[in-house]
Amino acid sequence: MKKVFISDIDKYLDQEVKIEGWIHNFRSSGSLYFLQIRDGSGFIQAIVSKNDIDKKLWDECEKITQETSIELEGKVSKHPKKEEYEIQVNNLKLLQIAEEYPISNKDHGEAFLLDNRHLWLRSKKQWAIQRVRDRIIQATYDFFHQEHFIKIDSPILTPNACEGTTTLFGVDYFDMGKAYLSQSGQLYIEAAIMAHGRVFDFGPTFRAEKSKTRRHLTEFWMMDAEMAFCNHQQNMEIQENLISYIVQDVLKYCSQELEILERDINKLKKIKAPFKRMTHAEAVEFLQKNGSKITLEDDLGAEDETLITKNSELPVFVEKWPKNIKAFYMKRDPENENLVLGSDLIATEGHGELIGGSQREDDYKILKTRIEKEKLPMKDFQWYLDLRKYGSVAHSGFGYGLERLTGWICGVHHIRETIPFPRMINRLTP
Ligand code: 4AD
Ligand code: MG
Repeated sequence: MKKVFISDIDKYLDQEVKIEGWIHNFRSSGSLYFLQIRDGSGFIQAIVSKNDIDKKLWDECEKITQETSIELEGKVSKHPKKEEYEIQVNNLKLLQIAEEYPISNKDHGEAFLLDNRHLWLRSKKQWAIQRVRDRIIQATYDFFHQEHFIKIDSPILTPNACEGTTTLFGVDYFDMGKAYLSQSGQLYIEAAIMAHGRVFDFGPTFRAEKSKTRRHLTEFWMMDAEMAFCNHQQNMEIQENLISYIVQDVLKYCSQELEILERDINKLKKIKAPFKRMTHAEAVEFLQKNGSKITLEDDLGAEDETLITKNSELPVFVEKWPKNIKAFYMKRDPENENLVLGSDLIATEGHGELIGGSQREDDYKILKTRIEKEKLPMKDFQWYLDLRKYGSVAHSGFGYGLERLTGWICGVHHIRETIPFPRMINRLTP
């Protein structure tokens, strides 16, 4: 008998198939068993009818528990009323009868679910979130390859800080002293664009921030993209095109997942470039009018980010930030010495900052002065300065946080649900 995946089941109408999976849920009514089967690729209802199978098989059914692993054979039929397929079982084998499963349909507290994350991953909503996350990754690769980028991997163990020295995890590195876990691959892919023009990386990043919010993890996945011959404006255009592409791609391939998540897809359908732009100064003015205490010297707080897109159907770029609150590598705005050509992309519906990006300082002397002013260790940045000595060009890039993006697209409140095994200040297990 041919083993098939549930996601392909529509190709097998009226045929006999074999499925391997788990009992996601079940109920019985006298002479019938309704089994919700999960095989990883999807969910399907399998019906066992006492009259159609041997007594021995029926007795097996009575041993079924939630999460029991099984192999079953049966005929694919279409649900009489809904656009759904079912399986009329004629044979089944229980592979391992699961012990009483700790997660049921009743409400469990968040702490309990997080302690049981290794099992919680099987729940329908969690299943859907990981599938959307996977699609976002796929769409990102597709978009970039269409746009002449290649993927370049940046190192995880690094001697220096990219985003600021206070948020690094240090590790002992043989007799060379301390090494640090990467907070962003940006500096390395700046080197790679001088060989490849347009590149992106995608990997785990680490921040020892003491932030205990629904938008912060200590380990998260970042995609950094970098482009040679690209200015600040062109940088934002690539970002809005990427985000639009990803959202439309998820809508196309993950309709079942978005339905499980009860996501309002009409909101997602509207996510198409161009997005709105406002300067940091304009943002501050708008926020102050709406009751925020923010000043022209400040970064946006979580509530400010929520306010910025409160009345907007599209994400908003906040650009031209005060240089004192942004990283050393951002290029100075030629029109205003105190500002940098950086942008943050703020999501709709209160999901906050999705992307941080900027044009990079490409002048050797200015960058060197910046590194000195910030008191960064010059020897660790010599290679980075070299890039400004040999064929320096205008270049820009940006990075998105995969969990923020997944949380926004899925409509999930806390990003800890968007990574398989979240790491936060107070959580390292399972
Ligand atoms: O804005 P950030 O700090 O930018 C950079 O790291 C740049 N070097 C990227 C670049 O230009 N190549 O971080 C980028 C994104 C943020 O916009 C946010 O989505 C996410 O990474 N992020 C976090 N996600 C989860 N937990 C955290 N603690 C995060 N910190 C940043
Ligand atoms: Mg940022």
